Order: sequence, then C-alpha cells, then structure tokens
Amino acid sequence: MRILLIGDVFSTSGRKVLEDNIKQIKQEYGINFIVINGENIAHGNGITKKYYDFLLSLGTNVVTLGNHSFSNQEIYRWIGDVKNLVRPLNYGKGTPGTGYVTVNYNGIKITVFQVLGRTFEKTSLDCPFRATEELLENVKSDIYICDFHGEATSEKIAYGLYFDGRVNIIVGTHTHVQTNDAHILDKGTMYMSDLGMTGALDGVIGVEPSCIIKRFLTGMPSRHDPMERGKLQLCGLVVDINEHTHKVTSFDIIRMIQ
Ligand SMILES: [Fe+2]
Ligand SMILES: [Fe+2]
Repeated sequence: MRILLIGDVFSTSGRKVLEDNIKQIKQEYGINFIVINGENIAHGNGITKKYYDFLLSLGTNVVTLGNHSFSNQEIYRWIGDVKNLVRPLNYGKGTPGTGYVTVNYNGIKITVFQVLGRTFEKTSLDCPFRATEELLENVKSDIYICDFHGEATSEKIAYGLYFDGRVNIIVGTHTHVQTNDAHILDKGTMYMSDLGMTGALDGVIGVEPSCIIKRFLTGMPSRHDPMERGKLQLCGLVVDINEHTHKVTSFDIIRMIQ
C-alpha cells in the first residue's frame, strides 16, 4: 500500500496548492492512505472545523496538528467530536483531543500519532520518548505512523533511531523546510527529519517576508501575515509498505513548485 504524508499546509496558499494537485498525486502514485499536517491551515495559525472538513473532503485519513493545535480557539468546541484529528500525544493529561487514532484500512490497523519535540519548545510537555513507549505498549497495531513535530533535527534523529523497527514511519514537521535525509533505517523504519511545508514558496516559512525581516532588523514584535502571493510549493513523502509484512519497501520524495 502507498501512504502519502504532507507537511504543514499554510493558510490560503497552502490550501490552494493542495487542492490543485492532490488528485493528480493520488492517481500518479496510487495512494491508499493520506496523513496531512494542518496546524497552520487557518490563516497560518491553527485549524477550524471548516478546514478540517476540507482536508477530509480531499481524501485525508488523518490530520495531525502541532504546537499550533489550539492557536485558533474555535477548536475547543469540536476537537472532542471528530475522529480523524491528532494533537501531540505528550501534552499533559486533561488536554482536549487525542494524541493518536487507529484506522482500519482493509483489515490493516494503522495507528497515526504525533509527538511534539521539547528542544526550543516553550510549552511544558511530557517526554516524547516515554509517551511513545506507553503508546506502543498499550495500543496494538499493524502499522505505526509518527509525525514528530519539532524544531531540532538532533532530537528527531535520536527519536528515529531509538524507535527504529518499532514505528514504521517517522516523519518530521514544524520547521517548514524539507530536509534531504529521507531513508530507511537499519531496522526498517522510514525516516525523514522534515517533510517541508505546503504553501507560499518565497515567504519566511509561510509568512510575508517584510513582517519577519523587520523583526530581525529591529527586534520589534511584528504581525505574522500569511504570504498569499508568488510561487507555491507542495512538500511531502510517499511511502510504500508491504501489506503482508508491513515493512517499508520504497519511498518517493515530493517537492512540487508551481
Ligand atoms: Fe507549522
Ligand atoms: Fe509547528
């Protein structure tokens, strides 16, 4: 089976490039299962029910979030009612929503979960390694897919190597820059430090450059207006998994520019 993973879809530009291309990607690769990071889909900040439904209408099986999970406060009203949405597993007990979902695909149990890295992250979080150990112990599945949402490649790589052979796919999100390190680890895990973002190509990780450049030049706080002009990019990864052995057999990196 073929699994498509798409990195942080950012605002109007991200929704447009995704909608324009996903049908073709699905056909070209024969995609069976789709995981998309939607933490920036609503004006760069969080997700609304409307855009969650939009992602599902494109054929998405699971939507993952990240440090912006609760940035759009509308989510508190509906996060408890939906089945295909995942926020970081290592938020503390009592956090609304769930850190994993298990989907049955043609008799194959696929568990998709997300952890949030702690390096350079100001939120108080449980340990992503220990949270994952607990999940693997308690939730039995044929295939595990992890979206490691984090800033530091070192933390993601360490996590990938630690869970090599136990989590089938570990892909990073959050930096919005695609890394050139996708490979199958020694014990079989598909690993990539960051899928990259889906949205404006020449923004500063999705944001209008003038806002961010001013901030670097002056140190003053600035508004983060999403970049809604210029070229667009769609970044992700296609992973081939054997339906019987559940082993990763091959992969294709996606970086489309239009
Ligand atoms: Fe993001
Ligand atoms: Fe993020």
